[in-house]
Amino acid sequence: MALLVSSWSNGVQSVPQDYIMPPEKRPGDFVTVCKDIPVINLQNDRSEIVQQILKACQEFGLFQVINHGVSEEMMADIRVLYDEFFNMPIEDKLSVYSENFGKGCTLYTSGLNYAKEDVHFWKDTLKHGCHPLEEHSPSWPDKPARYREEVGRYVVEVRKMGFKILDMIGEGLGLTEGYFAGVSQEQSMAINHYPPCPDPSLAMGIGGHTDPNLITFLQQDQYGLQIQKDGKWMGIDPIPNAFVVNLGYLLKIISNEKLKSVEHRGVTNSIASRTSIVTFFGPNPGLPIIIEPAKKIVTSSSPQIFKSIQYNDFIANYLALLRKPGPRNGTPLDPYRL
Ligand code: OGA
Ligand code: NI
Repeated sequence: MALLVSSWSNGVQSVPQDYIMPPEKRPGDFVTVCKDIPVINLQNDRSEIVQQILKACQEFGLFQVINHGVSEEMMADIRVLYDEFFNMPIEDKLSVYSENFGKGCTLYTSGLNYAKEDVHFWKDTLKHGCHPLEEHSPSWPDKPARYREEVGRYVVEVRKMGFKILDMIGEGLGLTEGYFAGVSQEQSMAINHYPPCPDPSLAMGIGGHTDPNLITFLQQDQYGLQIQKDGKWMGIDPIPNAFVVNLGYLLKIISNEKLKSVEHRGVTNSIASRTSIVTFFGPNPGLPIIIEPAKKIVTSSSPQIFKSIQYNDFIANYLALLRKPGPRNGTPLDPYRL
């Protein structure tokens, strides 16, 4: 428990040695905010939205959505809930704490394997499955007392939004209706908590990565998220009550690289803690799912770029690569390119 950044960082005057990133992995002096990220209003005309989403996925692999159906009240309540959760005394968090990222509901710190990391990330994360609700909610924290009820309601609303957007992406790509229903059985959440850091230029909240799932929805109200665009890191401006939507690797494969999957990271700040509430949709790792470019997209003028992949193999490779100490060689997709 002593490992959680939030348990020891309050008031520290300098960044401990094992949180100082090597120079090439530090946030850099000056990162501009990307002003071109599309903001899509889900209350507009559907055919218009489908085109906007498609364009955003082709150009950025990321966009923000507003008027998405998850109420402002629900978003505000969940924010308060997670502030309360991370501010609880250590004893109240013990039931979900683990020294490593693991299966089920876990509160862990930094990356996937703390003990093997050369340098740690300045973050604590609570992570758990969400769907089906009855299966997962008994493993969720029982404090604050309203956790299961409130998060249970949030999960359902985010799911509706998630499938609506996946359907529209499918429509934009010309796929059969409901195409993604077969690939997106799993819904899970990671709530990342980044306490204030005495020197944000030395540390990193979460290092550069691309999500290994289909699609991710991120609720935030403070700056910290950055994307890699044309070889440069750029900031994402938080918009009140919006979700940041970013595509995972699997959509890049399924779309035969017609859509992008953006590399992103999270930086810290010295003034206030930041919490991001993140929902992931993707295949159920327990099922033998094959991921491959959709047949309808592969044509003689757009030949298949990726091999068919067993999702479990893909995820095992991805995790092995993330866990590997030292500089990364290649991306998890490299072995699957034809
Ligand atoms: C993630 C992620 C970014 C953030 O959890 O996959 O990219 O801002 N989080 O917390
Ligand atoms: Ni991510």
